[in-house]
Amino acid sequence: MINSRYAASMVNRDHWIPRNIDLVTPSSARLYDYYLGGSNNFAADRELARKVLAVAPQIRATALANRAFLRRAVRYLVAAGIRQFLDIGAGIPTVGNTHQIAQQLDPDIRVVYVDNEPVAVAHSELLLSDEPNAEIVEADFRDPAGVLDARETRALLDFDQPIGLLLCAVLHYVPDADRPAEILASYREALAPGSHVAITHITGDDQPDALREVAELYATSQNPGQPRSRDEFTALFAGFEVVEPGVVYLDQWRPERPEDVGEHPERSLAYGAVGRLVS
Ligand SMILES: C[S@@+](CC[C@H](N)C(=O)[O-])C[C@H]1O[C@@H](n2cnc3c(N)ncnc32)[C@H](O)[C@@H]1O
Repeated sequence: MINSRYAASMVNRDHWIPRNIDLVTPSSARLYDYYLGGSNNFAADRELARKVLAVAPQIRATALANRAFLRRAVRYLVAAGIRQFLDIGAGIPTVGNTHQIAQQLDPDIRVVYVDNEPVAVAHSELLLSDEPNAEIVEADFRDPAGVLDARETRALLDFDQPIGLLLCAVLHYVPDADRPAEILASYREALAPGSHVAITHITGDDQPDALREVAELYATSQNPGQPRSRDEFTALFAGFEVVEPGVVYLDQWRPERPEDVGEHPERSLAYGAVGRLVS
């Protein structure tokens, strides 16, 4: 459901542009919005996005496949009993956000979104202003205390009950130098048995040349990226048991119809998997 303030903001674009944001340096949130056909991006974002699409046109299909993975993963987690989600690196709201997918299945499901990008946060605040069971926190994945102890997080999520931790298309913005495995361990330690994590991540395993060029272009943005290999991606699930079908390209993860996979799932440029907390 789109509320009236959010709908108005789509018409009057000034509503959603927060003050003091960097309009000159492209951001991953706004690039992704562009790939998905959204309008919450600026000239510098569009210029870089066009360069990315020129060297790797499959990025647009990757973004769509990533959203489709998110939808399937949320439904899977709800079927597995999850009734609350922590969606980190949630992005600028688009079609089929986590609370909308989950609450179709159970309206009482609670969702906390986290992002460190001002446009994503401002837009989410508008979208969620009438939603009692969903909140946005402006925080950085690399600051687990800032995420886990935020007032909104504590108000909505019960850490004695299973949580679905979503990290879709965000960890490739956390380089090894920032120690993503150690950060993930902090989140894992806060989770109750039965919790799950869903992760998607860009890889250059099958298309290294295209990915190298994409990484070079993203190095000029606010979010330089680090693609990871299959082994590096799998290692992010330490302490979790990866559920069937394991680590696969996005379209191969529990497709709704066999024909959704296509002949070249590796063209999605990204792995996806879901892990269950080992208790
Ligand atoms: C490609 S979008 C993914 C959006 C959504 N998760 C999805 O899969 O459709 C990546 C998002 O991660 C956010 N992000 C990047 N680094 C982050 C960090 N360190 N902490 C929080 N959010 C981050 C960006 O601002 C952006 O909104």
